[in-house]
Amino acid sequence: MALSKNDLAGKAMNVDDYTLVDFAEFESDDLFEVADYFYEYIRDAAKKKYMVYGQPMMTGPRTEFEVYDNNAQMVRKFHNFCSYNYLGYSFHPEVVQAVQEALEKYGSGAVSAPLLSGYSHPIKLLEEKLAKLKGKEEAVVFSTGYMTNVGVLSAVLRPGDVAVLDILSHASIYDGVRLSGADIKIFAHNNPRQLEKVLKGLEGRRTIVCIEGVYSMDGDLSNLPELIPITKKYGAKLLVDEAHASLAFGKNGGGVAEHFGLEDQVDISIGTFSKSFGAIGGYASGTKKLMTFIRMFARSYVFSCAMAPHTAVGLLKVLEIFNRDKSTLNKLWENTHYIWNKLKAAGLDIADTKSQVIPVMVGSDLKLREISKRLLHKGLYTGIVTYPAVSKNKTRLRLSVSSAHTKEQIDTCVRILTDVFREMEDWEPGT
Ligand SMILES: Cc1ncc(COP(=O)(O)O)c(C=O)c1O
Repeated sequence: MALSKNDLAGKAMNVDDYTLVDFAEFESDDLFEVADYFYEYIRDAAKKKYMVYGQPMMTGPRTEFEVYDNNAQMVRKFHNFCSYNYLGYSFHPEVVQAVQEALEKYGSGAVSAPLLSGYSHPIKLLEEKLAKLKGKEEAVVFSTGYMTNVGVLSAVLRPGDVAVLDILSHASIYDGVRLSGADIKIFAHNNPRQLEKVLKGLEGRRTIVCIEGVYSMDGDLSNLPELIPITKKYGAKLLVDEAHASLAFGKNGGGVAEHFGLEDQVDISIGTFSKSFGAIGGYASGTKKLMTFIRMFARSYVFSCAMAPHTAVGLLKVLEIFNRDKSTLNKLWENTHYIWNKLKAAGLDIADTKSQVIPVMVGSDLKLREISKRLLHKGLYTGIVTYPAVSKNKTRLRLSVSSAHTKEQIDTCVRILTDVFREMEDWEPGT
């Protein structure tokens, strides 16, 4: 039953008794009342040293970085297994130099929407390179990956249409469909039989199937070889979000569709620059006609400021480096295999990851809180993933491995994790 004021009024807030779900579903006549109770929840979390989110990073996302630790109230050094800087490009000297030079030339921002004066020449060049990377006729660059999915899906769908989503799809995919007013149907993660069952019931309706290349919370790969033939059989369109897969998968870095040799089958390929590219932004790619339509009808593109030109210049440099030198990519895979083996040998549950995105399954919210507190105390920064990013009983840590990690750093990460999970064997909530 949903939490309400009656359950909480007059009681001291105890963070151990509730999760974020309770506040997402809080019942009240007053729109803002939930914030009063939620604030108490956060204060109790901070008092108990559970408030590990939103701590200021004092240095950039290198494999070791400094963070202002809210609990210790001081700047501390951490091993960073949390940033998506998979190929270390955010600090590549050539990228940094290119961005510095572009800052001189273009200033700090685009200060206009792309259809007006925000469409800088570096963005145009970047779109041409991306279309090539994805094997598509044209690409459109958005300011973030989130805005890309929201803009594309809300542009192509209308009320009465249907989007069929893998249940583990990213929030931006769900939100784009919601904004369009189209219906959402879901199928069990990566399950072709379920997809077919859903599509069978939708014949005659305009439909798009949305899947991810690498799933962002699980690190497993989309079952494209089985899902695509079913999508085509029922005449549905196909969108694949390659956020975590671009530059990490495929012979040319195109993503998981390229990895399976199926890139021609994808109608709209989405990507972000916030992962392997080491920066910020997103892009959609597809036919020239479709991209021309999206440029005019994706509201998150039309009504928002364009990517800063210096960011686009840095991204062009990333593509240049990636295309001439695959040693960083090879190192990423060497590190990924190394950490998988270490984590498995330590008896940790890393689910079905097949990528540099590695979940370490925990289960309950309370246990996750205690584990994350202990990991931070020991100097390890990981993704701490709870509802609404994953379902209530599937909370986890998420490790992001980078080509820039050394074997020693990976060994330290696994040692700290092993120690903490061992300590937790006898742990009971409230102890
Ligand atoms: C699959 C997927 N799509 C889209 C996004 C949003 O990307 P961005 O952070 O660039 O807005 C993410 C971000 O984590 C993601 O994992």
